[in-house]
Amino acid sequence: MNILAIETSCDETALSIINTAESTDFQPQFEILSDLVISQIDTHIPYGGVFPALAKREHAKNLVPLLESSLRKAGLYQARTETNSVNETMKSSLATVLEREPELYTTLINLIEKIERPNIDMIMVTYGPGLAPALWVGVNFARALSVLWNIPIIPVNHMEGHITSTILKDDYTEQKHVLTDFSEFSFPMIALLISGGHTQLVLVRDWADYEIIGETIDDAVGEAFDKVARMLDMEYPGGPKVSMAAKKGDPNELISLPRPMINTKDFQFSFSGLKTAVRYLIEDLKKSENFNEQIINDMCFEFEQAVTEVLLKKTQKAVDTYNAKGIIIAGGVSANQFITNAFKEYANNEGIAFYNPHKKLCGDNSLMIATAGVINLWKQKTATVPEEELVAVGNLKI
Ligand code: KG4
Ligand code: ZN
Repeated sequence: MNILAIETSCDETALSIINTAESTDFQPQFEILSDLVISQIDTHIPYGGVFPALAKREHAKNLVPLLESSLRKAGLYQARTETNSVNETMKSSLATVLEREPELYTTLINLIEKIERPNIDMIMVTYGPGLAPALWVGVNFARALSVLWNIPIIPVNHMEGHITSTILKDDYTEQKHVLTDFSEFSFPMIALLISGGHTQLVLVRDWADYEIIGETIDDAVGEAFDKVARMLDMEYPGGPKVSMAAKKGDPNELISLPRPMINTKDFQFSFSGLKTAVRYLIEDLKKSENFNEQIINDMCFEFEQAVTEVLLKKTQKAVDTYNAKGIIIAGGVSANQFITNAFKEYANNEGIAFYNPHKKLCGDNSLMIATAGVINLWKQKTATVPEEELVAVGNLKI
């Protein structure tokens, strides 16, 4: 069975095509036929963050060219031999589904008039959480293809995708069959999801069986990184830049930042106070004329240290409370090696498993959507939804 996976929840337009086969034991076969991402970062830099209306426009512009490239890459592109074009009834159905994306409608018609129906059996698409205008483009694209090819859709939760992206082997880019042996995973596990929009601790009882046990009460970790970067005039997305500066930083007695909520009994987080502390610190340093490149690096070092200590302490508490057998750390910020190394070291000392997605899969991508969809399919935890009932849910919970 060939599956097309679609991700448009934020500022990456991503499509992948995978092949999977029925399996009676729970070990899905998973072969990657194509995996493409168009990042919109350059579009959003002037705005210092993701601008939803622009994200929507870019997704609408990118999806059809990306589909064409994906089909070619997967060997599923075949030029149309007959000359008769798409019939008017179908065109009018597609126009209705894509009412709010007229540009997408036009480019889609142009593509389907020149190709044979490709061998795709199912669609998996992110329906939340994320920016609603961005999510809707992917959802409506999925609905249009479902109508056109008469195939079912499985809606996928983006955060579950971040968790399940860890089932792809480290060398997934070179292999044909790329899933880790499922018997390797012992449950329960604790997943720490850290991205631009989320900071969550999730109890993973089994694949497709999750419970959020804690989350941020204000800013997400990635958001705090990005805001600190902005205070330091670093370009969006600032997380990687702050982390690069931190690598050149050292402990400095002039700089000390709070570790918000580190000792509270719950699993909640708060990062807005930390961000504010950075703002005051910058003002003080500027007044004292101590503001130079080295001190910026030292401040980034201390900021990263504070974030890591809070995340680690709460995760350790969750591991102890639930007697977890492993830790998963995923989401855009999990590309940060300082943070992940601290977790890896803790897991090694504790003798529990540690999983972090391949670095290409830490940020948003569509393979993660395919992994979550396939797991749910084989676990029979998810049902296909009728095209007309599929909606985007911006604040969807796992
Ligand atoms: O998961 P993601 O790609 O998008 C969302 O779903 O939010 O996460 C993006 C976030 C941004 O805030 C970005 O600054 C942050 O991840 N990020 C990092 C690093 N790489 C990306 N933060 C800290 N250190 C990094 N190396
Ligand atoms: Zn994400």
